[in-house]
Amino acid sequence: MKFFIDTADTDAIRRFAAMGLLDGVTTNPSLIAKTGRSREEVIVEVCDLVDGPVSAEVVAVERQAMVDEGLALAEIHPNVTVKVPLIPDGLAACREMTASNVKVNVTLCFSPVQALLAAKAGATFISPFIGRLDDLGQDGLELVADIREIYDNYGLETELLVASIRSTAHVRYAAKLGADVVTVPPKIMDQLIHHPLTDTGLKQFLADHEAQQ
Ligand code: G3P
Repeated sequence: MKFFIDTADTDAIRRFAAMGLLDGVTTNPSLIAKTGRSREEVIVEVCDLVDGPVSAEVVAVERQAMVDEGLALAEIHPNVTVKVPLIPDGLAACREMTASNVKVNVTLCFSPVQALLAAKAGATFISPFIGRLDDLGQDGLELVADIREIYDNYGLETELLVASIRSTAHVRYAAKLGADVVTVPPKIMDQLIHHPLTDTGLKQFLADHEAQQ
């Protein structure tokens, strides 16, 4: 399973990239806005930090405007993946950009049939937002399982990229369900790495070593 990081914070990206953990990066307009920097400036820097797909999202909502904006984003770097929302114009823009060999991540997916349509439109990635479904009392991981089954039934090659991850359990179950990619916020990346027994074990080893000197 590939690990993307879900942030536009370049310090965090640098930190986890140095550990060799990152296969790609996802951003969205909310994450870019938090940085106070322009989307283009952030994407250029991110593409230098990570050698893998970097999702940059369009803010247009009409097909031609999405395509124009997406193609301009794709010009920034060969690793840029254009993110479009799962609306009718987004699917049309996805089909058009895919035909021009631009990779597209279809985002804001909340149902299995939406994911099926994104695959038919040629999406490189589909992004189900599981945490936001859990927030409504629904089961985000059930959506992941349904998409996996549907894509496998028909040999669809769109990669299942699990997004809106809120916990280490989300990562664990996404892996068990056969997700192709998880995009993980920095806070959850840290939680994945740390374990209290690792910390107490190391403390004890170092204390024993010190006592022997
Ligand atoms: O990048 C999109 C997605 O991961 C957003 O997550 O936490 O805002 O629902 P969240």
